[in-house]
Amino acid sequence: MLHEEISVNLGERSYKIDVGQGLLDEAGSYLKPFLADRNVFIITDEQVKPIYLEKLEQSLKNEGLQVQSTLSVPAGETSKSFLQVERIVSALLTKGLDRQSVLIALGGGVVGDLVGFAASIALRGVDFIQIPTTLLAQVDSSVGGKTGINLLEGKNLIGSFYQPKHVLIDIDVLQTLPKNHFLSGYAEMLKYGLIDDADFFEELETNIDLIHGLDPEFLIAAIGHCCQAKARIVAEDETEHGKRALLNLGHTFAHALEAETGYSESLSHGEAVAIGIRQAFDFSVQQGLCQLEESCRVRDHLKKMGLKTRVNDIKGNWHFTAEKIVQHMQKDKKVEHGALTFILARGIGQSFIQKDVARTDILTFLDDDLHRG
Ligand code: NAD
Ligand code: GLY
Repeated sequence: MLHEEISVNLGERSYKIDVGQGLLDEAGSYLKPFLADRNVFIITDEQVKPIYLEKLEQSLKNEGLQVQSTLSVPAGETSKSFLQVERIVSALLTKGLDRQSVLIALGGGVVGDLVGFAASIALRGVDFIQIPTTLLAQVDSSVGGKTGINLLEGKNLIGSFYQPKHVLIDIDVLQTLPKNHFLSGYAEMLKYGLIDDADFFEELETNIDLIHGLDPEFLIAAIGHCCQAKARIVAEDETEHGKRALLNLGHTFAHALEAETGYSESLSHGEAVAIGIRQAFDFSVQQGLCQLEESCRVRDHLKKMGLKTRVNDIKGNWHFTAEKIVQHMQKDKKVEHGALTFILARGIGQSFIQKDVARTDILTFLDDDLHRG
């Protein structure tokens, strides 16, 4: 069986990531060391539940592991809420949660972020395991310990850094992932190439068919590569005081667009990231930092993959203005003393953190960008 193992080195909070094919069927044997003689709770969402919950439970049962209880939340971003945190923690306590219990997050980034946050505060912290079922969660959100929920005021404004005990990635689950969600995850995958790994960008650029065809060998290697990259960055800067911010390439633009579209079905997180990445490169060109050919190459690849690249590509009748977008940006967690921080690029694989971006510069860029559609 194809399989890669990656370590996230964080002292006593270190853990391993298994990436492979068919691992969900083997979950019992991979997870036994973490689950034996403990109360196990699985939390998933209503879309993932009918597809994968039984498979996971059966695999645990095969190893003699009992599941104390399973819970599901509605699928989608709205589940990243205080309401669901309270519901989950109350239900777990009713069903016998104790400090030795383990939670398993089975689902995409929404379930992972929500369960991770619930695990970090229930009884002041219980162990949790990530079994990510979207590409986005496999290459990004299940690794590194950022957990969180949303407020009306913005995304992920409540949360914690809380590392899982293990991450189990089965690429087979991507077979049932709707295409738009697969592409959303792809934007986060591409990000690693754009940050500091031009060779990886080129590998993705030249293997579009293997990516679209979900080629197992290519996917395991590519997802493993992303997890390695993330593990390296997180080991250096777990709580984002420096380098980890590079993982937010395209995200300042993306979060503002997501807020402006009300976190609705019109625009998923990954779709917003694709537009945001294109904007970050174009803004870098406008600032005289990056060659136009480099930003065109990024945009062309995103388009070839079938991703949105322009604000006009967003579904629905939204009226975006530069002023409104900048207002959202000013609520971002990365704002320091009111100053805007962006991840910009000198080229593919050459991203950097730019603090104190002038409000007028970004307003002018966005005005121009919105006029071009
Ligand atoms: P998601 O969890 O909402 O999943 C997308 C949809 O796909 C959902 O409807 C889900 O039910 C469905 N689904 C999941 N797996 C499936 C499968 N295998 N087959 C069929 N359907 C499946 O969205 P997402 O894109 O995975 O995650 C987005 C979230 O991740 C956002 O809230 C974002 O803020 C967060 N995020 C967190 C981090 C982090 O570091 N913690 C990083 C990036 C993004
Ligand atoms: N997804 C960004 C981070 O984990 O830091």
